Amino acid sequence: MKKIIISPSILSADFANLAQEIDFIGKAGADWVHIDVMDGHFVPNITIGVPVVKSIRKVTDLVLDTHLMIENPEDYIEPFAEAGSDILTIHYEACADRVGDVIQKIKEKGVKAGLSIKPKTDAREIIPYLGNVDLVLIMTVEPGFGGQEFIHDCALKIPVIKENSPEDMIIQVDGGINNLTSKICISLGANSLVAGSYIFGQKDYRQAIESLR
Ligand code: DX5
Ligand code: ZN
Repeated sequence: MKKIIISPSILSADFANLAQEIDFIGKAGADWVHIDVMDGHFVPNITIGVPVVKSIRKVTDLVLDTHLMIENPEDYIEPFAEAGSDILTIHYEACADRVGDVIQKIKEKGVKAGLSIKPKTDAREIIPYLGNVDLVLIMTVEPGFGGQEFIHDCALKIPVIKENSPEDMIIQVDGGINNLTSKICISLGANSLVAGSYIFGQKDYRQAIESLR
């Protein structure tokens, strides 16, 4: 069985000690670092920008999994790629009329391309793009904030994506993931889990990460 990729969302980390938090999750068995970029327009919250990604790149060798919850994502691909992101995931809803071009732009920067859908978006809408992306991120909460409750219906999109994807597709879920909801997602075919409040809310990060697999 293939390993489940765990990507802790630093949105729930202690930002005053970010380097240490990232060091801790790496030592605790995390595979990636999930960085939630929010612009106050696509979602009603503002979080991390390019300079922070640049600083994170200097302190870790973990894969930087950057989730762009922003409008006009094409305008920010170059800076986020150059800041050191290994994966750039854009939202389908932010550029539905030009998503193929935006994916192409990500690939030209030599980073992996991810495509995300919000809870109300039908998974079938992105089937035409599944041959061109490395990762699909299925939001299991409305994007914008950590600590929300998992929306069970969203997990039903996992098999739809899986059935229509190449073998090596990374199918990631994000929002409300804990030791119980992770199992639901894995059983439906997810192979990458983002978790913020569940991991950073526990004393023992290693145990938290292991309990997700
Ligand atoms: C929500 C973000 C998530 C968030 C997950 O918009 O995309 O990555 O940090 O937080 P939890 O795991 O607390 O639901
Ligand atoms: Zn996220």
